[in-house]
Amino acid sequence: MNILVTGGTGYIGSHTVVALLDSGHDVTILDNLNNSHLGALESISQLAGRRPLFYLSDLCNLDNLNLIFDHGHFDAVIHFAGLKAVGESVSEPLKYYENNLIGTLNLLHAIKSHNVKKLIFSSSATVYGAQPAEKFTEEMPTGINISNPYGWTKSMIEQILKDFAAAENTKSPDNPVEISLLRYFNPIGNHPSGLLGENPNGQPNNLMPIIMQVARGERSELTVFGDDYDTPDGTCVRDYIHVVDLADGHLKALEYLKPGVNTYNLGSGQGTSVLELIHTFEEVSGKTLPYKIGNRRPGDLAGFYANPEKAKRELHWQTKLTVKDAMRDTLKFLELSTNKTANNNSAQPVEPNPPERQK
Ligand code: NAD
Ligand code: UD1
Repeated sequence: MNILVTGGTGYIGSHTVVALLDSGHDVTILDNLNNSHLGALESISQLAGRRPLFYLSDLCNLDNLNLIFDHGHFDAVIHFAGLKAVGESVSEPLKYYENNLIGTLNLLHAIKSHNVKKLIFSSSATVYGAQPAEKFTEEMPTGINISNPYGWTKSMIEQILKDFAAAENTKSPDNPVEISLLRYFNPIGNHPSGLLGENPNGQPNNLMPIIMQVARGERSELTVFGDDYDTPDGTCVRDYIHVVDLADGHLKALEYLKPGVNTYNLGSGQGTSVLELIHTFEEVSGKTLPYKIGNRRPGDLAGFYANPEKAKRELHWQTKLTVKDAMRDTLKFLELSTNKTANNNSAQPVEPNPPERQK
């Protein structure tokens, strides 16, 4: 298939692009490099042995987007592009609603006018909000007590996509829109080569990038947010999923797209506590990771993990890699990025809009 990947130089997008190219698909990436670097494109090309077409463009620019669709003749779109920093979304809600919602609405206009029928959307387990549950199935209600604008954009986009598909499929039942909403749990790790990884611009808030900063010596220690939860060791439990497994989930979702909108949890179904994650990193690296116990972080839930049975049943997908694998691969990435060879910002010239092709 010929696939447009929005946000394809980002963390999850870049790993998925490698998996798509390895499976023989053709890929065009659209990214504004807001939270990624051109170095990812080099790493993708090196790993896959061929270079995807790359457009430096913003989804919020509909004219550019239409030009890209005019050239592309895409069979499917995988939509990763979006802003994702939970804390920043609380202080800059308009920026988040504007980027994530307008970007998606533009994409739907382009998809509709260019008769593209297949779409996969990066949603998040955050749409389940704060509920008295720990293990989430796709049928559970969403949009309950979501604590931040980032989470609301995911919930709103899910609704927009359902309304879009319902309207289109009423008009053209013989040529239906096929959409998958993939609700990711907590992605960690990176490509085993160490050439791709999570390399965000700005201050990270998520646990794994912070562990990486401590390991690199960029932070003196990690603060564990609370050890008095009702969990086996008192720290919060999450469902960490290796990004390579997650990328594979997109391939399977593409293969098993069905008319209408179908939703899948992508998680391992296994819970790992903050302390377990830290100790696994220490075990794999042979290094001590300095940490202290701090206060609870407002909005955190004690336990939060997937029931991944639907993905297993319908997409024939399940996680294969472990938290230990993720730590091993993270170490490799740290090693290479410290040597400034991986996924860096060794910027090639970046052309302004209108979109410039880079071959
Ligand atoms: P990322 O920030 O690494 O990648 C997103 C990419 O989108 C970046 O390269 C960024 O430059 C690009 N982008 C953002 N806005 C854009 C715009 N308007 N036009 C063009 N490009 C734009 O994030 P990621 O971790 O790879 O996440 C990918 C998707 O998965 C996001 O939608 C995110 O919300 C979702 N998600 C991520 C996680 C996670 O923990 N990483 C969890 C659940 C869901
Ligand atoms: C967070 C977001 C969620 C988003 C997900 C992936 C919140 C409330 N939720 O989930 O919307 O989809 O990231 O981007 O922000 N921790 C520490 N110390 C730290 C950082 C984290 O102890 O310095 C703990 C947290 O308390 C949590 C666990 O590590 O228990 C994982 O945290 P994080 O990586 O931020 O993910 P989530 O909170 O699960």
